Amino acid sequence: MCGIVGYVGERDCTEVLLDALSKLEYRGYDSAGIAVFEKDRIMVEKSKGELKNLREKINKEHKPDGHCGIGHTRWATHGEPSDINSHPHGSKRVSIVHNGIIENYKDIKNFLIGKGYTFISETDTETVAKLLDYYYEGDPVEAIIKTLNDIRGAYALGILFKDFPDRIFAVRKDSPLIIGVGEEENFIASDVPAILKYTRKYYLLEENEIATIKSDRIEFCNIHREPITKEVQVSNLDMDAAEKGGYEHFMLKEIHEQPTAVKTTISPRINNGMPDLSECGLTPEMLKNYRKFFIVACGTAMHAGMVGKYVIEKLARTEVTVDIASEFRYRDPIVTSEDLVIVISQSGETADTKAALHLAHEKGAKVLAVVNVKGSSIAREADMVLYTHAGPEISVASTKAFSVQMAVMYLLAYEMAYAKGTITEEECRRLTAELQKIPEMIEKTMECEDRCKYVASKLITATSLLYIGRGLDYTLSMEGSLKLKEISYIHSESYAAGELKHGTISLVTDGMPVIGVATQSDLLEKTVSNIMEVKSRGAFTITVCKEGTEFSEGVMDEVIEVPVLEDILMPLITVIPLQLVAYYTTVLKGLNVDKPRNLAKSVTVE
Ligand code: F6R
Repeated sequence: MCGIVGYVGERDCTEVLLDALSKLEYRGYDSAGIAVFEKDRIMVEKSKGELKNLREKINKEHKPDGHCGIGHTRWATHGEPSDINSHPHGSKRVSIVHNGIIENYKDIKNFLIGKGYTFISETDTETVAKLLDYYYEGDPVEAIIKTLNDIRGAYALGILFKDFPDRIFAVRKDSPLIIGVGEEENFIASDVPAILKYTRKYYLLEENEIATIKSDRIEFCNIHREPITKEVQVSNLDMDAAEKGGYEHFMLKEIHEQPTAVKTTISPRINNGMPDLSECGLTPEMLKNYRKFFIVACGTAMHAGMVGKYVIEKLARTEVTVDIASEFRYRDPIVTSEDLVIVISQSGETADTKAALHLAHEKGAKVLAVVNVKGSSIAREADMVLYTHAGPEISVASTKAFSVQMAVMYLLAYEMAYAKGTITEEECRRLTAELQKIPEMIEKTMECEDRCKYVASKLITATSLLYIGRGLDYTLSMEGSLKLKEISYIHSESYAAGELKHGTISLVTDGMPVIGVATQSDLLEKTVSNIMEVKSRGAFTITVCKEGTEFSEGVMDEVIEVPVLEDILMPLITVIPLQLVAYYTTVLKGLNVDKPRNLAKSVTVE
């Protein structure tokens, strides 16, 4: 959470910082700020709200004119979103931007108050800035090392020292940070897309490394001041991928990118018509021999894990436990060295998922990570990685990342089932061939877009609604409900359809929308019965089903049809109308689709 950037070079620093921050707003948008050297003075400008507020303020008041500076876009943790709590924070001699949480900031603050320091904000970050000031005696790296010895928690820090107007200092622990390498200019950023316009080359900063960044030189040392040599990475991200490309919102663009994303994710993992995940070191033999499988993730990624569980259990007849990462990490799960823990994460930085990975390692299990962001912490720490190839997902609400996560789960299920002998080679080939048709089928499913927009128009006055389904349809109900509530702010719950009668049905009142997901043939009649039950209690019923599904008259108020595939594959296309309904409901309500309130794309705090 929070995005940080820094620039040193010949360009207009303020413009570069604002531009780079605009690519990181998905990490938080409670406030934004910059600190730029004007000759040897550090000029700080900050403003509550989205980045555009900061730009307006700068245009109206003062635009810092310099060539070295740092910037920040905030997702508030300590202290409400306000001008004062916005970063950068500092003293007369130091200015910093921070992504993360300093757990022992209260102790440090009390210590510094005892030394005569005063504080103006409620943030944990200001304590780090003042602690750097306290330790600073003319040697920035010395002050940084002493500060790192004192602070506990997660951080990526960009630091300016007033006495050194030609350089930025950077450190990190448990929060991501890269150092961008240009020609006579260099950068820092929380994520590669922020600097892609200027350079593709970057260094991954590791924990306990201190970077000193000047326009013509980048130096790294460890906390003992020993120099470190690092290898330059080159990003192959598509620059346009981080732009809206003609769509009104990133979310809509990303929904439409799903056919390509799924194709790019599965194609390299299909060898001669069979699934092949050997690139990450996972062999059929290993899949056959693990005692137990755990899938651990948060939010939408966890829903992809739920789909994985259903498909793996159905095909490979192997038990899979799915856990929400924040529960897994504290419930003392019975994981052993004979198990495989699969963590799923778009960002690869989610704090709870990362902690689950650490716990799995502590218990001796091997960890397979299904991750979208290359080089992210989870990808680096896992024993095996299967990258999803969705490209950058900018909209806070996850769409294409979900589809590619599901696609990987299918490949895993097929490979596992074949390895265990629960499906024949012929069946495995057939299923794999069907999976290869999914990109085209998603494209076809997009034809329901206008219908989804119409259905959305019926939801905008709702204050509460339910999503119901059974089996794989239940996992999709969970995802549909999350998507709708997180961006449209309409209260929504998802329920296993058979569970309604055990309490929830008492919530149904006249006109309450109930969205039934009913694509599974063997469960169709049962789900339809549950929809009839809510209809007879006044619900406004909307059903997502296969093309040509017939219902008794008067049961369904609205129907959204999707193409017919075999049941097991239906989640891969059923998700499309659920995403589109959430999207258009939010657009019609005039809300900020890509940046829903209180949320951030990368949840790096627990
Ligand atoms: C919802 C959404 C979140 C994420 C969750 C995990 O649309 O995006 O629920 O899925 O925060 O994030 P990652 O996948 O980055 O670990």
